[in-house]
Amino acid sequence: MSKYILVTGGAGYIGSHTVVQLINSGYRPVILDDFSNSTLEIVKGVEQITSTQVLVRKVNVCDINSTRAVFNEFHFEGVIHFAAFKAVGESVSEPNRYYRNNILGLLNILDLAEEFNVQNLVFSSSCTVYGSPKGNRVVTEETVLQDANSPYGNTKRIGERIISDFVNSKVNLKVLNLRYFNPVGAHESALIGELPAGKPNNLLPVVTQSAIGKFGPITVHGNDYSTVDGTCVRDYVHVVDVADAHVKAVEWLMEQEQSLEEHINIGTGKGTSVLEIINTFEQVSNVRLDWVFGPRRKGDVEEIFADASKAYDVLNWRAKKTVKDAVIDAWNWELKLKNG
Ligand code: WQD
Repeated sequence: MSKYILVTGGAGYIGSHTVVQLINSGYRPVILDDFSNSTLEIVKGVEQITSTQVLVRKVNVCDINSTRAVFNEFHFEGVIHFAAFKAVGESVSEPNRYYRNNILGLLNILDLAEEFNVQNLVFSSSCTVYGSPKGNRVVTEETVLQDANSPYGNTKRIGERIISDFVNSKVNLKVLNLRYFNPVGAHESALIGELPAGKPNNLLPVVTQSAIGKFGPITVHGNDYSTVDGTCVRDYVHVVDVADAHVKAVEWLMEQEQSLEEHINIGTGKGTSVLEIINTFEQVSNVRLDWVFGPRRKGDVEEIFADASKAYDVLNWRAKKTVKDAVIDAWNWELKLKNG
């Protein structure tokens, strides 16, 4: 009998790719999403990829009564909690909306997991909890956390703290906090991918939308960093690899006996600069990009990438796809959005 897994934010970017991988692994995911940052087209894409009708409940996770009704309807083996606002820049201008939405949503999930004795929780955390790591640019899960550079990052850091206090209060709960680095790319079918609301902030959607003509030249934020070529370095990890990590996380949790809370980096362990992303895109697409150097972007970390060894040791997970694969898939998705 297939196990039901609740996926809050399951119509979103990482959520929808995770729903595909859950179905492919024999689970019955239930998408709980208010569609404030996604469309039903994405759900249709998931159904086309998997040839499976997906269970969807249009609910805002901050509405505890409506969310409780979904817990009442299904017996969940686990919850993967993605639903949150996630635009770093927007969170700086709208902190109250971010704290209310991201923290209240998590508290509701924790309360309902306890109420319905759902013992396995995967929390969508972020490398932003590391802030600007001092000295070593390769971060392990033991790296001392710095102040996050944005209210968004703080909601993840506070979220991890809340979860830790819940687990320590003898609530029967097993939690994995997955700290994503920079998820990029799209499903190889080009039936699902990233749908940034408005003008994107993240580098790869900016690149593909500039290339397709949605807006003008790309501004490379800063070229005077102490990095390989003066531009910022990040750990770009293919979204399908990130989705696989969530399936492995749920399966690992279901095997554990005791209450626990663990943090795991989800990255490739390799750093790639902004200019290297631009050059890779031009190589794979044969499209010349129009870009200029501009000033540094406030809050940017100079260089950060994961020590991903714990993910392999604990979950037997490592990234299989490359940055080049992600750039190709992101471009194919952009072309599909334009040409239908
Ligand atoms: C990457 C680099 C920019 C746009 C993201 C998510 C955050 C978290 C971590 C999950 C930076 C540069 C960008 C542009 C540019 N992920 N850039 N011109 O800031 O690392 O944060 O990953 O939780 O949610 O936002 O990613 O893609 O915005 O920027 O030069 O037009 O690309 O300055 O150096 P970031 P990003």
